[in-house]
Amino acid sequence: MSAATGPDDPLELLPKVDLHCHVEGTMRPATVVELAAKNGVELPTSDLSELYRYTSLDSFLEVFWLVQSLLADRDDWARLGYEAAVDSAAHGLVYGEFFFTPARHLEAGQFLADIVAGLDEGLATAEQETGAQVRLIADFDRAHGPDAALALASQLIDLRHAGSTGMDRIVGVGMDSTEAGVNPAHYVAAYELADRAGLRRTAHQGETTQAWTIEAALDVLGCERIDHGLSVLDDLDLTRRMAADGIPLTVCPTSNVLIANHVELLADHPYAEMRDAGLMATLNTDDPALTQLDLGAEYRAVRDAFGYEFADMVAIAGDGIDATWLDDDEKRRLHTRLREAAHELQPDR
Ligand code: HPA
Ligand code: ZN
Repeated sequence: MSAATGPDDPLELLPKVDLHCHVEGTMRPATVVELAAKNGVELPTSDLSELYRYTSLDSFLEVFWLVQSLLADRDDWARLGYEAAVDSAAHGLVYGEFFFTPARHLEAGQFLADIVAGLDEGLATAEQETGAQVRLIADFDRAHGPDAALALASQLIDLRHAGSTGMDRIVGVGMDSTEAGVNPAHYVAAYELADRAGLRRTAHQGETTQAWTIEAALDVLGCERIDHGLSVLDDLDLTRRMAADGIPLTVCPTSNVLIANHVELLADHPYAEMRDAGLMATLNTDDPALTQLDLGAEYRAVRDAFGYEFADMVAIAGDGIDATWLDDDEKRRLHTRLREAAHELQPDR
């Protein structure tokens, strides 16, 4: 294995996808400080490293919601979209499906059309500059309940029919925020509406809750992917089923250490166990700027924690491509690109 690290590491340049990245969680520290000043939000501390320490998912969500509250207008969303894509592309992202979670902005009186148009503007500029492509997943925020989810699904569909700017960038719906005590089945109406409109479906499940919630997301909500999904391993039948059916899990090991406090060390994370069980466990960043992470660093960290070879990491990157919601031709093109790059970057043995 190559001893190179950081920018010289082959995994940095390897073409990668990220299917579990919250666009709000990519906000640069400098942008946090500037938007707080611009929009009159007082940060509890000027030392962000102090703020970005979490003892549980709920303690993280307090910080995530504070960062979200800094996004006040269309220009802020455009800046966020631009910086998210540029920063990810700098670490080898070639394609992403990024979440945005607008519930609290809508509640505060922002318009979904402005949020999406802003994100679209920033992402389009970044795409032109970098060649990376980013599509969006509109996430329901469980802290706002099933009625807000249904209202969001319905607005998405109305704006789509109206041809509102940027709506074609939204490829699916998901669900995030607090998991504990929430039965995913309560969100069935929002998911059914999204499905009827041709949107793809995923959900954060099994980050802090039991395997039955993953099963409910699959069977009741019709999810085609599961975000995190760690607790799948507690249920052998479900593990076998998800492996046999090739249902992707968008796993974020570093996040699970730092945000959910699921394990103390990356080496204790069940990622390798998930892969060994035949699960399509892809590798993703979650909230990179809020965990001092990037996609290249996540690939290197996982390689080093589990002693994976370069070829193992290429296989993981390939599973990421298969797990996207791209069409078959687009997937083939990305696979070709990955194969060629892997050949070039293959470290000396
Ligand atoms: N889990 C739930 N909600 C979130 C997360 C997460 O990992 N990141 C941002 N919102
Ligand atoms: Zn997440």
